[in-house]
Order: sequence, then structure tokens, then C-alpha cells
Amino acid sequence: MMISNQEVNKGKSKFDDIYNVDDPVSYYESLCLQKEYELPELAKPYFTTIIDAYLKYQPVTPLKILDLGCSYGINAAILKFNKTINELYQHYTSSSRLELTKTLRRDLDYHWLHQSSFDKKLQLLGLDISKAAIDYSVESQLLDVGICADLENQPLSKEHYSKLRDLNLLISTGCVGYITEVTFDKILAAVGNPGQLWGGVFVLRVFDFSKFNGVLDKYHLVPIKTAVTIKQRKFSSVSEKKHMIELIEQQGLSAELEKVSDYLLAELFLIVPRDILETTAVETLLSDLKLT
Ligand SMILES: C[S@@+](CC[C@H](N)C(=O)[O-])C[C@H]1O[C@@H](n2cnc3c(N)ncnc32)[C@H](O)[C@@H]1O
Repeated sequence: MMISNQEVNKGKSKFDDIYNVDDPVSYYESLCLQKEYELPELAKPYFTTIIDAYLKYQPVTPLKILDLGCSYGINAAILKFNKTINELYQHYTSSSRLELTKTLRRDLDYHWLHQSSFDKKLQLLGLDISKAAIDYSVESQLLDVGICADLENQPLSKEHYSKLRDLNLLISTGCVGYITEVTFDKILAAVGNPGQLWGGVFVLRVFDFSKFNGVLDKYHLVPIKTAVTIKQRKFSSVSEKKHMIELIEQQGLSAELEKVSDYLLAELFLIVPRDILETTAVETLLSDLKLT
């Protein structure tokens, strides 16, 4: 049974108030402390594997990565600046930082991120509906390029085309459901050369990623469901848990893992150009990437 995103989102807890404020502190306090949110850190080794595989397929420098629904640049902080969620939480919530003005906090964050070595071969772009999160991520130079947009409801602009052109890799954690295939379609149109695009997208099991197949196919891309399933966050209430489990089961899937783990679980979908699968079987690709 097909379930609409609206129906899922009705029963899923909302954290909208922490996604659009000047500073990341509420985001880290709320998600890390109360909900044990670890998804971007658990996703890191899989994103790294995909990055390494892409560089073997096509050795480009820098590798242009778009984090879709990037919020305050958490994937950039973890992947490019090698921070852990715990380090991010400790930094953003430290009382000495919180005493500073907004401008001084930005300076502090910039220096904290850039003082140790970071991965200069990665060029991180982030797209998010939240202007505050994008402004923060660009001003602290967590992101090389920020795009504040709601492509579900707004058309592509010239700026989107020029920023997204020649993208190599699309990653996302926790954003499918907020965005649909409508956003993917626009991003892929702007990329210009989707035949060279790969993707690694974590999708909550409650959302049906097969709805994206048609759009991906239009750009000669193939989504491959991997065997990777990781914790996204703890259920925030007994009623959220009950509702999510019902929705998963209504889709004919087993929700045993959610029942015993107490966590919302996300699955990794790998996206590759169709050409690759003309010479390499899906099973070989997944086993080479250790995603089986
Ligand atoms: C659950 S958060 C995930 C944030 C981050 N990727 C992470 O793993 O912590 C979902 C993000 O999607 C963003 N979002 C919601 N609707 C969006 C849209 N239409 N286009 C782009 N981003 C959107 C929110 O602002 C928020 O930052």
C-alpha cells in the first residue's frame, strides 16, 4: 500500500523550530541530547566508501558534493572537517561560546573548524530551505557553497544552475520525506551532466524511495537499495513509535527492528549512472563497496 509523505509526516515528531534559528546550538542540544541523533556519524564510513569509489571511477579534484537538506552543515563537519557529533555538541554548547556575540561565535567556529587539517579535496555544497542554517554554514565556512531553496515549491534560478553544475556526488541524511522526487528532478536538471553523478541517500524506512525511480531513470541514473540500515534517532514518544510501526507494516514491510531497537531506522540507497551497470553487475558493485 502506497502511503503519502503527508500521512507519514502527520505522525512523525517535528523539530522545525530548531532548524531555522541563527545559531546551531538548539539543533545540537535537541537532537543529540534528547533524541540520541547519530545518523550523520553512522553514515560517515558509507559516504567515505562511496567517495573513494567515485574517485576511482573518475579522479576529479575537488570532488563536488551536494548535501541535500544540509541544515547547519553537520555532514560537512563530519566528512570534511573530521569532527565527531560529540565534539560538535561540546563545542556548540560550551558556555564560553554561548557568551559571545553572533559575529564572534562565527569567528570562533571558523577557527575551531579550520585549525586542524581538513579534507581539501572535498568541495561541500549544501541546500536547505532554512536561510538561517545556510547563512550560518556559509559564514563559518563549513560549506563552500550554500543554496537556500525550497525546490518543492520554487523554480530553478540561474544561481541554482551555476552552483549545481557538474556535481559529482549527492548525499543526504534525514531529508527525504521533507523533499520528494520534485526536488530531485530540479537538482538533476541543473547538474547538467547527470551521467557522471553518484549518490548516497539515507531514507527512513517509513518513506518509499521507489517514488524517485521515474525521475532518476529520466536522467539515466539507477537507485540501488543497499543492505545498510542504521539508526536515525530514538522515537520521541510511544505514540510516534506506534504510528511509524503501523505505517511500515501497512507497506508490507517488517517493523521488527524498529520494535526492538526503539529507533527510527534509515536505509542507504546508492545511486549510480546506468552505464556503470552495463559493465558491472549490481551484486558485484555492492560487494566491492562492502554495502551488501
Ligand atoms: C531532519 S533534518 C536533517 C538535517 C541534516 N541533514 C541532519 O542529518 O541532521 C531535515 C532538513 O531538511 C530541511 N528541509 C525541509 N524542507 C526542505 C525543502 N523543501 N528543501 C530543502 N530542505 C528542506 C530542513 O530545514 C532540515 O534542515
